[in-house]
Amino acid sequence: MTLTPNNPLTEEDQKMATNVDADALTSEVLQSFSATPDERTKEILGSLTTHLHAFVRDVAPSIEEWEQAIDFLTRTGKACTDVRQEFILLSDVLGVSMLVETINGQETPEATDSTVLGPFHMVESPVRALGADVSPESDGPRCVVSGRIVSIDGTPIPNAEIDIWQADTKGFYDVQQPGIQSIGNGRALLHSDSEGRFHFRSVVPMYYPIPTDGPVGELLDATGRHPYRPAHIHFLVTAPGYRELTTHIFIGGSEYIESDAVFAVKESLVKDFTENADPEVAGRYGVQTPFRHGRFDIVLHPES
Ligand code: BEZ
Ligand code: FE
Repeated sequence: MTLTPNNPLTEEDQKMATNVDADALTSEVLQSFSATPDERTKEILGSLTTHLHAFVRDVAPSIEEWEQAIDFLTRTGKACTDVRQEFILLSDVLGVSMLVETINGQETPEATDSTVLGPFHMVESPVRALGADVSPESDGPRCVVSGRIVSIDGTPIPNAEIDIWQADTKGFYDVQQPGIQSIGNGRALLHSDSEGRFHFRSVVPMYYPIPTDGPVGELLDATGRHPYRPAHIHFLVTAPGYRELTTHIFIGGSEYIESDAVFAVKESLVKDFTENADPEVAGRYGVQTPFRHGRFDIVLHPES
């Protein structure tokens, strides 16, 4: 239809015309990727175009809002340094990191659940002997964590590498407190024994806030969300012939266990750290009574 001032579109017609143009635009962009040689890249870009255009149609941003979005993403990029990844943090608070973990974990349901890596695995953990105190510079209530690394059929996995890192009793990682904690405090690289067993001593970690001094903090602020993660200890477990596992043990009863800022809690990973006042057991682990004891058996999936 030719439009003239004497032949104006009704409001309904105008809406349709806009939709037709917008749909044509989406098709044109999809078409522009049609010669992409790699099939997976083509699939990803096609889906991105379809969903992103649908999102923009749904939200119908003003030009100012679009500029605000670009500015937010630009500042997110500028906040990234060698030791800070604001984009991963954004992915974390939007639940995307956990969604990716969960989708990938579905392939290996018999293995221990995985969860997010987080930004604090940024330095090498010191090699420590089984049973060592992994937080020798930290004060506060002490705990023992013990367990076994096994395969999905229960076979013990000896000499598995267990990389652990955790915050202290005030909720700080070593890398956040230069001059107060040495790098390596709260970290360890352990190896399971001939029967797949491991244990270490530490302090009971505290819940803590994710970094809020960047654009992600603004997002949390603007949406009335708190930045806290419940108390946890990170594990990255590797063994030849098995899939790598990135996970946490969450301290049962910790604040924020029901409202983790990065949606990373899985029920199977929440463990009671029960108080133990038995001097004989304490002596065996080299701790004073009372101490808290968390048990965590880890099941790895063989590589296919
Ligand atoms: C962490 O547990 O270390 C963490 C994970 C995601 C975002 C921030 C911190
Ligand atoms: Fe953490």
